[in-house]
Amino acid sequence: MIAAPVRHVFESRGALAAALAQAVAGVLSKAIARRGEGFLAVSGGTTPGLFFAALSDQPIDWEKVTVTLVDERFVPPSSGRSNAGLVTSTLLRGRAQAARFVPLYAEAGSVEEAAALTAGALAGLPWPLDATVLGMGTDGHTASFFPDATNLPALLAPQVPRAILPVHADSAGEPRLTLTLARLVDTGFLALHVEGAEKKAVLDRALDGASALPIRAVFDAAKGPVEVYWAA
Ligand code: 6PG
Repeated sequence: MIAAPVRHVFESRGALAAALAQAVAGVLSKAIARRGEGFLAVSGGTTPGLFFAALSDQPIDWEKVTVTLVDERFVPPSSGRSNAGLVTSTLLRGRAQAARFVPLYAEAGSVEEAAALTAGALAGLPWPLDATVLGMGTDGHTASFFPDATNLPALLAPQVPRAILPVHADSAGEPRLTLTLARLVDTGFLALHVEGAEKKAVLDRALDGASALPIRAVFDAAKGPVEVYWAA
């Protein structure tokens, strides 16, 4: 039995972005007050643009915030498909420019080598996360937990020492790097940001248990209610 998600429904995507940014900023501020720093993992893709713009403007002590990614495509930051490129150009500006960004991508001959290199950088970060903001694809993937990932059970394992794993999935376009489910749900604030009717229908099916989509594993593993942010 999963904890019922908390659903936040908005009239517009702009209103959603503003509310989610405020919620995340509040969580980070509390973490800074409690332990001197805040640690946030965000998703890439097309959905978070407005949210990143709103978050970058939040008046918090960004110098004490570390930002990393939930997942990354195995492409250099200069690529239009790079999630690091997106975060750099849309989130790490204005007030948020002062934050520390730790990318998942590393230049290497293979995604396996890159994962090993990045694992070293991640080891020094202030785990657990204070806030995780996930997205979702219409195939029910989140982070890089693609339904056809060759190592899906390892990515979704409830306990795994690794923070980051390489991913190969035909549907993903290119190899990926992803934080593991266990790391992503070990967080003070777990949000799922989805927009549009098609994604809502996918999410509802996953929550009904009508389909065993990777997104369902997030709800099964979450330590508390998942905060679902949705707008048409
Ligand atoms: C990525 C993401 C991924 C994303 C979903 C939704 O790198 O692609 O981190 O998990 O959240 O694919 O993507 P859209 O927002 O583009 O629909």
